[in-house]
Amino acid sequence: MRKLIIDTDPGIDDSMAIQLALASKEFKILGLTTVFGNVNIDLATTNTLRLLQLANRTDLPVAKGASKPLKGKFMGGVPFVHGDDGQGNTWQRPSILSPINTPADEFIIEQVLKFPKQVTIAALGPLTNLALALSKKPEIQKMVKEVIFMGGNAFCSGNATPAAEANMYSDPNAADIVLGAKWPITMVGLDVTHKTILLKETLSEISEFDSPLNNHVTEAYQFYQDFFIKVNKIDGTYVHDSSVFAYLINKNLYQTVSYPIRVETQECLSKGKTWPSLGESDHEERVALKPWKNRPKVTICIDVDYKKVIELIKVRLTNP
Ligand code: RIB
Ligand code: CA
Repeated sequence: MRKLIIDTDPGIDDSMAIQLALASKEFKILGLTTVFGNVNIDLATTNTLRLLQLANRTDLPVAKGASKPLKGKFMGGVPFVHGDDGQGNTWQRPSILSPINTPADEFIIEQVLKFPKQVTIAALGPLTNLALALSKKPEIQKMVKEVIFMGGNAFCSGNATPAAEANMYSDPNAADIVLGAKWPITMVGLDVTHKTILLKETLSEISEFDSPLNNHVTEAYQFYQDFFIKVNKIDGTYVHDSSVFAYLINKNLYQTVSYPIRVETQECLSKGKTWPSLGESDHEERVALKPWKNRPKVTICIDVDYKKVIELIKVRLTNP
């Protein structure tokens, strides 16, 4: 089983992704760490605790993380996408659980040192906690099994802005640090999540499975689905965060390339854009390519067998 830390900002699609991870025997979840993003850090933490309570997995520790990006301030989340509560305005009762006293970045460090070369960090929100962990303990980059994150857009438009994907846009400085570390890292970005659509009828089929967690997630998804039908004119929702676990379960469903990536950190039109260098920097000493020189390569998902991903998600969510 793959030892897993889930870093998350629930967020409605985070909730389905957590449900998918909990339902998948491939994973031994060591704990969850929370981060600002879709909602503020307090809501992200409360939502995570509540999801675990609904899943009857109160054994799993939740470590509260960053409330704002490395530079600048928290911009208030995206209530028009995820609801004011981050869960489709379902306003569930607060969880009876509390986070552990260890902050998220220290929990990540602790677990990676405890299980050298065995821990996979799956990040579903801004990469602030991972950047903070790296700055406190740079050695972890040589001790993780791998890092995988939902975020970025290598060869397609953004969603937060025409230029950038939301998680990168929320903390571009953290993203640039994390993508520059010498650890095995995979980007599951809009290049594949915008090709993976959970159709309305499929969500309806999933909602027929009766469990406290599934009932909540599929209820919350109504709000999320309404947004995408109205704004993106698609007949369902993009599968963002769950794609991370679909990749870990079956990497053969994805096509990847590997290039060094820089993230635009300036306050400009392209803020948060993930820029891959297509190998031209390997052999040429062009000054303009200096920002990518000696940067490690990132495994970038560029295509997906989306029908098989959707089938995988549906089977797992309805047969936990
Ligand atoms: O761009 C989509 C990503 O931003 C997802 O992780 C979603 O939950 C939001 O955090
Ligand atoms: Ca997320």
